[in-house]
Amino acid sequence: MTLGHSARHTLVLPVDPDAPSLDAIERAAQILREGGLVAFPTETVYGLGADATNASAVAGIFAAKGRPYSDPLIVHLSDADALDTVTVDAPAIARLLSEHFWPGPLTLILPRGACIPAIVSAGGSTIGVRVPDHPIARALIRAAGVPIAAPSANRFMYTSPTTATHVLADLDGRIDCVLDGGPTPVGVESTVLDVTVAPPRILRPGGVTLEALRAFVPDVVAPRPHAEISPPETAVVLRAPGQLDRHYAPRAHLIVFDAQGLPALDAMRAEAVRALAEGKNVGAIVLDEEVDLLADLSVTIAPLGPGRDLAEVSRRLYAALRSLDERHVDVVLAHTFGTAGLGLALWDRLRRAAGGVLRPA
Ligand code: TXA
Ligand code: MG
Repeated sequence: MTLGHSARHTLVLPVDPDAPSLDAIERAAQILREGGLVAFPTETVYGLGADATNASAVAGIFAAKGRPYSDPLIVHLSDADALDTVTVDAPAIARLLSEHFWPGPLTLILPRGACIPAIVSAGGSTIGVRVPDHPIARALIRAAGVPIAAPSANRFMYTSPTTATHVLADLDGRIDCVLDGGPTPVGVESTVLDVTVAPPRILRPGGVTLEALRAFVPDVVAPRPHAEISPPETAVVLRAPGQLDRHYAPRAHLIVFDAQGLPALDAMRAEAVRALAEGKNVGAIVLDEEVDLLADLSVTIAPLGPGRDLAEVSRRLYAALRSLDERHVDVVLAHTFGTAGLGLALWDRLRRAAGGVLRPA
């Protein structure tokens, strides 16, 4: 198996998520066991997997993504029962949360067990662990027979992939295999919760909402947006690399207004008129019910679904950003969706994709 930077053939294996073909899963699992890299769908986004117990296989992930070693990886398990094989002294709250939220988009930060090499955790004493809620991911991890380290399967700093096409756009020729199981159902990454501190602290909002966590951890510490953000060049071990100010970013210049409804649309319209006058190609991501409000301008629109359905908006956000990049827009205009429910994860990703800056309407 070739590892490192070398160009290689990326095998694309289509897999039906409702009835994963055992042949495809076994082929991909063998690549993982041999130290190769396999991208696979989870319920959140596609992950780029390697055997988490094999340090040189894990090094291949960093090389393929162009990711600095200071960014720790999440370890994926097929079942919560395997928790004790990758961590030590997991606190009682970890058991409680894993029973309720796994399989699902919740990553728990826990003390690192001896079988997980330090490269996985950026040299730190903790690891992120989760059981993904996707039949292909779980079948693959089970067949591989080892825990799987997997970041999102995109080039470092770019938008996370929600389809196999997105994965190939970033990593074709740099990884051994991708299991194409169609679009991922959640669309934003897992919530990262540090349970090594008391009270537990959300390091990254995501698919499990703050409200849902509060039902089990009433004193959970919500993410404190700006105070926590590290400058992009920081070379120290980051508690959460997703906290980089510019992350999840499209290539176009993204301008995000921290508002909803007409005030947000008025601000987007004014900015669109200004950018069009400068001869720029302008794109916008808006709710279905907002499309008509910009329809009279020459703006390329990517609709996100109805505002009452933030699950749909989350599912479509990254694909919308990528589709505008493909259409070579210079500027993308967007607005936030409040901070309730999935709105908080969307707020976080939009802000980071905009380089850490939100504009008032
Ligand atoms: O939904 C997801 O979480 C996806 C799928 C593939 O599982 N994975 C993902 O991985 O988003 P990645 O590497 O793109 O983001 C990993 C996040 C980082 O932002 C970091 O905050 C956190 O996980 N993380 C991992 N290990 C950590 C640790 N030991 N301490 C603190 N944060 C950690
Ligand atoms: Mg990522």
